[in-house]
Amino acid sequence: MIKEKILNILNKQINEELFSSYLYLSMSNFFSSQNLDGFAKWMRMQSQEEYGHGMKIYDYILQRDGKVVLIKIETPKAVWKSPLEVFQETLKHEQHISACVNNIVNLAIQEKDHATTQFFQWFVGEQVEEEANAINIVEKMKMIGDNKSGIFMLDRELGRRQ
Ligand code: FEO
Repeated sequence: MIKEKILNILNKQINEELFSSYLYLSMSNFFSSQNLDGFAKWMRMQSQEEYGHGMKIYDYILQRDGKVVLIKIETPKAVWKSPLEVFQETLKHEQHISACVNNIVNLAIQEKDHATTQFFQWFVGEQVEEEANAINIVEKMKMIGDNKSGIFMLDRELGRRQ
């Protein structure tokens, strides 16, 4: 049986992942309103990925015979100053999620919950990737600056995400 402390932090993490999904959907919506369809597609796919992360934890709780508790998802921000600001916020948000994942692993080790420790190794690796992707886009955007054709080309590049 899964310990209460672990169950609580996992249920909180489902909410974090679903909020991430909601936040990235809001960013996608913002990009669509700016006619930046490639960025919008990238964010929409990111939103789906986050939903998948939430459901991975959801299924894990069920597998461990725990109770999933769904809590209120906050309203995400809807307007940003620039595409750069959107991706800077994405990076900041992913760093926050990495910290959440690390806290879960720390607690799982402390509580000697080997199954949760092992299950969350996947998230540890995923966060390295998530942060690297956001850093890469932020760096490219900084290089481009206000150059419209540069933004257009990056929009096309990100729109190729499968
Ligand atoms: Fe599920 Fe982007 O962290």
